[in-house]
Amino acid sequence: MDTTPFDRPAHVPADLVRDNYPFAMGRTTTDNPFTALLEELHNGPEIIYATNAYPIDIPAWVPRRLNDIQAIYLDTEHFSSESFSPFPTLVGESWRVIPVEIDPPQHFQYRALLNPLFTPKRLQQLEDQVRRTAREYIDQFKEAGQCEFMSQFAMRFPIAVFLDLMGMPRERMEQFLEWEGLLLHSMDLEGIIRGTQQVVAYLREIIEERRNHPGDDLVSYLVNAEMDGRKLTDDELVGCSFNLYIGGLDTVTTNIAWQIRHLAEHQEDQQALRENPSLIPVAVEALYRRYPAVTTFRTCVKQIDIAGVTIMPGDKVAMSTTLGNTDPAAWENPMAVAIDRQPPRSLTFGFGVHRCVGVTLARRESVIAIEELLSAIPQFRLQNDVPLVTELGPILQPKNIPLVW
Ligand code: HEM
Repeated sequence: MDTTPFDRPAHVPADLVRDNYPFAMGRTTTDNPFTALLEELHNGPEIIYATNAYPIDIPAWVPRRLNDIQAIYLDTEHFSSESFSPFPTLVGESWRVIPVEIDPPQHFQYRALLNPLFTPKRLQQLEDQVRRTAREYIDQFKEAGQCEFMSQFAMRFPIAVFLDLMGMPRERMEQFLEWEGLLLHSMDLEGIIRGTQQVVAYLREIIEERRNHPGDDLVSYLVNAEMDGRKLTDDELVGCSFNLYIGGLDTVTTNIAWQIRHLAEHQEDQQALRENPSLIPVAVEALYRRYPAVTTFRTCVKQIDIAGVTIMPGDKVAMSTTLGNTDPAAWENPMAVAIDRQPPRSLTFGFGVHRCVGVTLARRESVIAIEELLSAIPQFRLQNDVPLVTELGPILQPKNIPLVW
């Protein structure tokens, strides 16, 4: 029940206000959010003003047409990504999440610094390690005839890859799982603050350690990198590492989860990939297009008209990749998945200057996870009679995927 009194701003038409936007934080569903809920949203107006779309229960515009979402992503003159995440403010610190919360032109400099870390060539060197990691987790359940895929694989595999990449010890796994729950999946403000403080303290500790003992990891690279003829400050190093942390774990977990759930629910697609594993990279692209789970945010900094409404400075805009990728006006048959056809580039990894820096790594993690799973266990399906729960909010994350084979 929404108990927050809401004063509709004068520029917001009353008929566009919704107080029940389904993809808001703090909600769960046992329906598949990529079917019924989504179709319902696409039946509505091109843009709505949802009183609960920005965390937690703060109003934001929600455009649902691919064209409008792309236009906003590209329009860095009217829309800023500064302070779209609450984390630095919540802990009373002035660092920023870099590069995602930095607008151009400064953004380009940071991005130039990070891009070399994620080139296909560099990731090729990680390939064997990522594959070994996937096998490690699959080995733990492959003889059991069943697994709870979220807790036994999807939550852990991206964290293990990230810990290796950052040169952090695997013993931190349980701690990272706890922090992820606090920061990204809790409605408890004190918990979010405590989690953020602990993550930042740990990142500062690692940065200091790498300064004294550099290794072959991402943090050492950042500590030694130069921008404009100078080294990064401690706050910049925290901001960059924090962005990799919030960008590269939960997102991968969620997407791999939807991809495996799809294969469990669509036996014919799973069978086709088993018969022809060379299709897996294309299938992964088709699944990324169909199950885009992330919403990020922009703040209007200059008045502009979009989709027939006026957006005013200070207004928040929820950039739902889920809505953009399934817009019936933009996509032919958007709810279908053709696992043997490369889809056009979608919004799953964002659009414009902030498009995901980790996209190549994310794709490889998905491909490797599916390849290894299909070769280690026979045809799997969802366990009957177990309700499938999804957490809604800025990321649409399955909470359980009970598989049997
Ligand atoms: C399936 C996995 C992933 C998805 C769906 C995803 C999605 C996104 C999206 C939508 C954005 C754009 C944000 C915006 O413009 O508001 C973004 C940016 C970003 N992502 Fe990812 N991401 C994934 C994996 C990763 C990985 C593995 C890393 C790194 C380890 C990463 C690091 C980043 C960073 C640093 C940015 C900010 C880029 C910039 O501002 O220039 N992401 N991601």
